[in-house]
Amino acid sequence: GSMLPQIPLPIDIMGEWKNSQGIDLNDRDTLLDTARKVNAVDFQPEGIDSVHEDPHHPSGRSRAFIEATRTSNDDVHGAITAAQAAYPEWDLRPVEERAGLLEKFADVLEENRIELMGLVVKEAFRSIPDALSEVREAADFCRYYAHRARVDMPSIRLPGPTGEYNAMKLEGRGTFATVSPWNFPLAIFVGQNAAALVTGNTVVAKPAPQTPMIARRIVELAHQCGIPHDAWKLVTGGADVGAELMSDTRIAGVAFTGSIATAKRIASTLLVDEERPIIPFIAETGGINAMIVDSTALPEQVAADVMTSAFRSAGQRCSALRMLILQEDVADEMLAMLSGAMDMLYLGDPGDPATDVGPVIDRDAYDKLMSYRETMRPRWIKTVEAPEEGLFVPPTMISIDEIEDLNREWFGPLVHVTTFKAGKLKETVQRVNAKRYGLTMGLHSRIQKSADIMQTWARVGNLYVNRSQIGAVVGSQPFGGEGLSGTGPKAGGPHYLPRFCAERAVSIDT
Ligand code: SER
Repeated sequence: GSMLPQIPLPIDIMGEWKNSQGIDLNDRDTLLDTARKVNAVDFQPEGIDSVHEDPHHPSGRSRAFIEATRTSNDDVHGAITAAQAAYPEWDLRPVEERAGLLEKFADVLEENRIELMGLVVKEAFRSIPDALSEVREAADFCRYYAHRARVDMPSIRLPGPTGEYNAMKLEGRGTFATVSPWNFPLAIFVGQNAAALVTGNTVVAKPAPQTPMIARRIVELAHQCGIPHDAWKLVTGGADVGAELMSDTRIAGVAFTGSIATAKRIASTLLVDEERPIIPFIAETGGINAMIVDSTALPEQVAADVMTSAFRSAGQRCSALRMLILQEDVADEMLAMLSGAMDMLYLGDPGDPATDVGPVIDRDAYDKLMSYRETMRPRWIKTVEAPEEGLFVPPTMISIDEIEDLNREWFGPLVHVTTFKAGKLKETVQRVNAKRYGLTMGLHSRIQKSADIMQTWARVGNLYVNRSQIGAVVGSQPFGGEGLSGTGPKAGGPHYLPRFCAERAVSIDT
């Protein structure tokens, strides 16, 4: 590994990361003080005063907000028209100017950290540490893409063997549409839009209907930083608004993170009209993410990494662990350790600094997860008590006979467990690959040969060895998958920006 060439990072990203995200939540006083401030953030949308207040269902307010501000089809059309009109001037600005604006925006996100964390905790039910990570990741995306744009965008000279002048450059494509999920309402929303903007595109952004207020606040801050109003337009609503956006043939590209079903619906919309230009479609969806644990793994470390990978953020991460595959001879010992670790999980409200596992995003998600969990009752290995009030899905380990028995993603704190036989690592990986998802995979092993087998055979975008398999870091762990898990390029990686660009070559005979 040490012989590989390294792609350098700008110093401020590394600095920020080492800086423990700007606040050190491992310090108890800091954690309590931060929690107090975050919980005091006002979460009352203007004009929405009649909303039933229930601490366990704060997203009810976002529902009301969406109803009050829902974008109509005329608005979608108008937003694209405005963003298109703003495009030429924005694209013609020097890349340095757009990069500088994004860096300023990153600073402003950090300056408003507490307010943004408050919105993330209250609107999306994310825990306080998760909310802090979101602010950090959003700022990292801005700084990293600003840095990459300076590297990628300038014209490059190419050889002209017969004496001609040859050059190539990247430019914006026009107006991008971005569609982002509720599980990272800040980081992914900012990342997609920052990439589109820094490369010279204007953008019409549709956040998830569960988290419109975070998105609205972010766009407001971006505009205050000097990013033109019409360069970053926001449309809010559900699938109907999304469909209207995707069916507009003026859109020059799409960046999407969400479900496979929606990704496929978008892809088919983009292809259906014969007159329509062929445009980039960047998709990041889910996964049936496996972790393989052999007999040389350290049980305590496995337990800690499974708790994080399967249950942090209530399992509502596309990277989260869904299928734990234990070497047969150590399965009982590992399961005993895991059960003990599950007993230590604290289920509580998102704003409670002690919370390990909070509620899931909404009633719909809760009902689906709980009813599936109930059908699997005979296969429960371990579950825990959850508070009676609120949308808490109890973290649960569910046994399955074969890798082949799990064929869809359950987006919550449910982890399936099966076993493999010693010496069958390659075959096991190939059976996981055969599901045709390819987002994250994990290995816990002290055997170098096993790590090599995984690196050779795992068909995933992100492979993690002897650690948790969530929480990819911008610039260090570019994130995104293949197959049913998405198209790439990877967010926070060196190849992301060119997909947002038109590549133009010029040859001049001298
Ligand atoms: N980037 C996130 C993670 O790595 C996506 O789920 O956890």
